[in-house]
Amino acid sequence: MQFLLYLCGKFRFFAMTRLSVNINKVATLRNARGGNLPDVERFAVDCELFGAQGITVHPRPDERHIRKEDVYQLKSMVKTELNVEGNPTEEFMALVTDIRPTQVTLVPDDPNQLTSNHGWDTKRHLDFLKGVVNELHSHRIRVSIFVDPDPVMVEYALRTGADRVELYTGPYAELFNEDPKKAIEKYRPAAEKAHELGLGMNAGHDLNLKNLKPFIQAFPWTAEVSIGHAIVCNALYLGIQETIQEYLDLLK
Ligand code: PXP
Repeated sequence: MQFLLYLCGKFRFFAMTRLSVNINKVATLRNARGGNLPDVERFAVDCELFGAQGITVHPRPDERHIRKEDVYQLKSMVKTELNVEGNPTEEFMALVTDIRPTQVTLVPDDPNQLTSNHGWDTKRHLDFLKGVVNELHSHRIRVSIFVDPDPVMVEYALRTGADRVELYTGPYAELFNEDPKKAIEKYRPAAEKAHELGLGMNAGHDLNLKNLKPFIQAFPWTAEVSIGHAIVCNALYLGIQETIQEYLDLLK
């Protein structure tokens, strides 16, 4: 199996990893002034025009960045894939089952959390997650579960019936700055477990122009990366069109 994975990686028998642009930060900027500048929905459409293959939003209960009404508007405007992330509370489930985005990513975040900082314990919450996945599937929504890079969490994610896992890459990004090889090796067991099980694999959090390519080269079966913070920071210097192009070039 190891050798087969090596060959697949070497000869890139995989579809290109899709770039989903997380536009939460754009909404944060808009909300800072109370008007509609920048226009979040227009920004999403432009990201698609510039080549992004998906748009990600993470509406939080306090609507501090993306608001419910944004999600409704985006559903009618996004032509690629809309990925909505969040903790499957009653309110969140009502929103996503009404909107029916292409994908929902389940994230165990606390309402007051600054940003997502851990994945699900899929073993402990297996029954709960099974119920949620079932409900989302009944609305024909693809489901991804945000997990830490732990093969056991990946295995139990499969048992929930989910289509994909999203590996939480915050710790990868942190370790990458000190020791890139060690950072990759830390993720290898979980990434290879997902691949072995035939479970789709996404990745997200703190990915950027430096650490993205080594991750994709090591795990070319990554179906999608969702990137927000770094894209917005890069765009301040490069502009959003060139920024998206640079990320797409890394994913080729
Ligand atoms: N994936 C999940 C589950 C997230 O919560 C976030 C941040 O909202 C991201 C990916 C994107 O992370 P970043 O903004 O660091 O690129």
